[in-house]
Amino acid sequence: MAYRHFEFIEKHAWTLGILTAVMVSLGGLAEVLPLFVEARNVRPPAHIKPYEPLRLAGRDIYVREGCYLCHSQMIRALRFETQRYGRFSTAEESVYDRPFQWGSKRTGPDLARVGGKYSDDWQRMHLVDPRALVPESNMPGYPWLATAGIDGAGIAGRMRTLRKLGDPYTDADIAGAAAALQDKTELDALVAYLQGLGAASEPEPARAAAAAAVSLAERSP
Ligand code: HEC
Repeated sequence: MAYRHFEFIEKHAWTLGILTAVMVSLGGLAEVLPLFVEARNVRPPAHIKPYEPLRLAGRDIYVREGCYLCHSQMIRALRFETQRYGRFSTAEESVYDRPFQWGSKRTGPDLARVGGKYSDDWQRMHLVDPRALVPESNMPGYPWLATAGIDGAGIAGRMRTLRKLGDPYTDADIAGAAAALQDKTELDALVAYLQGLGAASEPEPARAAAAAAVSLAERSP
């Protein structure tokens, strides 16, 4: 009986096609729907703060210059990734990123944890002329950022909009935003943004464990 049903389906291409589409759609929904519910449950931990004005302005420049076309900001939970870039990325870390900058292209290295890896001076020189520091680099230089000032006029409005979306900016944060950008260049802002990437994340458990093991070894006679 059931066998005859299958035989009918298998011999009629259209029926088979439609039923296959129905099954694939059901499977797709089963995978996608839980994520919509989960996304609402992602709550930022206390140590992850929304971007302060200078870093927020730097983030806009990062997006404008298309840095995401060569750099991802998402470390996958695979050993060779965490060994190279540090602790894998978590959803909470991107909670104030609209849109997120996870990216999917790595012409250059992942930047999710680049904050603090180099000095501010290194970052400045590298952005102006990458080959001055890394001779084999194919990253373009961005020398105009060093002389371009930031227009602070729009930042308060941007922060108010982000507050509507849930970023916990206070009135004082917003009122002081334009002043924080005074006399800053686009390079200052971009470097501030880069130096904050991953800086608020939790310490790498492997490194913490290794440090604990070392201090234990030091204590033992
Ligand atoms: C055409 C691809 C390309 C673009 C576009 C690009 N980069 Fe890069 N980037 C690279 C490559 C390749 C490297 C590795 C060589 C080097 O350090 O210069 C790199 C390295 C870096 C590093 C050092 C990372 C590390 O861990 O050593 C930083 C920081 C960086 N880029 C920031 C940026 C920013 C900010 C922008 C946008 C203004 C940008 N990049 C645009 C290709 C690119």
